[in-house]
Amino acid sequence: MLKGSRVTLRPMERADIPTFQRWINDRSVNRWLLVRWPISFDEETRWYEGMLQSATDRVLTIVTPDGTAIGNIGLHRIDHRHGHAELGIAIFEEKYQSQGMGTDAIVTLLRFAFEEMHLHRVSLTVQEENRRARRCYEKCGFQVEGIDRESIFTTGMYINMVRMAVLEREFFALPGGPIDLSPLAGTC
Ligand SMILES: CC(C)(COP(=O)(O)OP(=O)(O)OC[C@H]1O[C@@H](n2cnc3c(N)ncnc32)[C@H](O)[C@@H]1OP(=O)(O)O)[C@@H](O)C(=O)NCCC(=O)NCCS
Repeated sequence: MLKGSRVTLRPMERADIPTFQRWINDRSVNRWLLVRWPISFDEETRWYEGMLQSATDRVLTIVTPDGTAIGNIGLHRIDHRHGHAELGIAIFEEKYQSQGMGTDAIVTLLRFAFEEMHLHRVSLTVQEENRRARRCYEKCGFQVEGIDRESIFTTGMYINMVRMAVLEREFFALPGGPIDLSPLAGTC
């Protein structure tokens, strides 16, 4: 288990698959994940098993102190030679969004990535319109590295994707330390 100040990151379990299937079919969240087709139980099971077998992906389930599963967070395309991975996160249970839990989950995973996995850099891409996610990433030390203009087609239009990344030294240099959840200056 990876313990944060507001959430814990625990391994995914086979018993979570029905919950994962419900989550991934929730349009209010999956629109930000660029999920297109409705996902069947079998497809979700295949995804779960693929993650278990993958040498380059690790996904953990985000749980509240009372054990409620609220979302998933993971590192993908983990590259130990270059010390790089890509971060993905979703708090699927709406009532737990915008309470600092996403920030805490990311800070907890980044600390593990830098202190235990010896990664150097973690990157991600986010839809330009996803302001809450961008603010959350910014609080965790991610910086904008560029914009992929009109690179994704969704909801009937081409949208810009924002590329962000955080380096180990930037994460540990965050004002007040990486567990300080107070706002940073400026927004994307
Ligand atoms: C993105 C996500 C992980 C963030 O986690 P969270 O727990 O909801 O976010 P936090 O509460 O930790 O931080 C959100 C920040 O954004 C701010 N925010 C919320 N809505 C905002 C908006 N419309 N515009 C700008 N900032 C916004 C909050 O005020 C907070 O900043 P603050 O602490 O400075 O006030 C979560 O909302 C989520 O999973 N959303 C749906 C899926 C998704 O978008 N995944 C990311 C795909 S790249």
